[in-house]
Amino acid sequence: MKEIGVGIIGMGWMGEAHSNAYNNIKAKFASLNVSPKLIICSEIIEERAQAAKRRFGFEKCTTDWKKVVEDPAVDIVDITAPNSLHLEMIEYCIKHKKHINCEKPVGAFPDDTIKAYELVKDYEKETFVGYNYRWSPLVQEAKKLIEDGAIGELRHFRGRFFSCYAADELGFYSWRFEKENGHGALTDIMSHAVDMAINLMGEISEVQGVMDTFIKQRPIAPAGASHYAKGSKNDEMKDVTNDDYVNAIVKFKNGARGYIDSSRAFYGPTSEMTFEVHGSKGSIKWNFEEMNTLNLYIHEEGKQNGYRKIYSSPLHSNHGNFNPSDGSGLGYEDLKAIEAANFLNVIVHNDKSKKVNFEDAKNVALVLNAIIESNENKTVVSL
Ligand SMILES: NC(=O)c1ccc[n+]([C@@H]2O[C@H](COP(=O)([O-])OP(=O)(O)OC[C@H]3O[C@@H](n4cnc5c(N)ncnc54)[C@H](O)[C@@H]3O)[C@@H](O)[C@H]2O)c1
Repeated sequence: MKEIGVGIIGMGWMGEAHSNAYNNIKAKFASLNVSPKLIICSEIIEERAQAAKRRFGFEKCTTDWKKVVEDPAVDIVDITAPNSLHLEMIEYCIKHKKHINCEKPVGAFPDDTIKAYELVKDYEKETFVGYNYRWSPLVQEAKKLIEDGAIGELRHFRGRFFSCYAADELGFYSWRFEKENGHGALTDIMSHAVDMAINLMGEISEVQGVMDTFIKQRPIAPAGASHYAKGSKNDEMKDVTNDDYVNAIVKFKNGARGYIDSSRAFYGPTSEMTFEVHGSKGSIKWNFEEMNTLNLYIHEEGKQNGYRKIYSSPLHSNHGNFNPSDGSGLGYEDLKAIEAANFLNVIVHNDKSKKVNFEDAKNVALVLNAIIESNENKTVVSL
């Protein structure tokens, strides 16, 4: 069994999810024959670093992220720190010849993502990106059905990520709301929706985009508070300087049309990362909020119309890694385990059939840049 040393930078939500993912590999993906070893984690909040070491079983922890990259026992560095730190960390990982698993969107701005891709174009090590929704067994099934021609010629895509994480006007101000640290909904969640569009439909050739901000100020968080917690009306406030909402009318290279939008600022949809693909013979729709269900409609002449529900089961890619039961669903963190397994499969077995690397992130970034340009100039932008 091949042992691989892992270091993780940033022990917030994603740092924890990545740690759990690696800890799951030996049990859930035994056929990979890989044993990831949690060597060192880094976190600027000392208590959080110590807690992560204890809870996930890292050998060491530090408040200096460079020590993670420099550690000779570390083969893979996972970057789960705020977006504005990604690029500097990537550059340091390249200098120290580490495999890099960076959370989306890879950098604060689409131009950072493009730069990161250029830096690794001829890099001898592997990269991966946290576009985890691709790995839901039923999204993998949807992709297979589309590629097999089950719904015919692709004509339309409707995708969105409506998350309510910033819908509370008293939700704390954090790096996520500050333009100098990057865009808002555009890079945070529209990036997922655009990645899914490209994953299922192929390249986007034309974009018309709009961006807007609904909640103009937020309370400042006390030191150490979770960015996902909330303050009160009496707290000191800070201006939100990036976007709450973004939409794009798109055309794909294959001629299909589409509409993609994302919001972090309304209630109702909770984590509605969803798509509907329409073709000449039928349609497929999926929603992360009901991740273990796929709706499929294949038109049959003379039969009554309507979608049928398909439940996640061991018939679908990777479901069987978690349980042997039809309809016993998977959850968000299982997608992170599949993501880690796919990355390890690239590194150890050179199997790139399920990869999402910096080139894929760059393709998303080009579309995000086109949305920005279209919003600023009120024009249709060709890619
Ligand atoms: N793929 C997904 O579904 C998904 C979901 C959420 C976030 N993300 C991405 O993951 C990344 C982190 O997001 P999060 O939600 O975990 O944020 P978070 O705020 O919960 O965690 C980030 C952590 O990094 C720490 N940190 C800040 N500066 C640091 C430094 N210099 N060295 C070490 N640690 C430092 C913070 O203290 C914090 O604990 C972002 O890039 C985000 O876009 C991806």
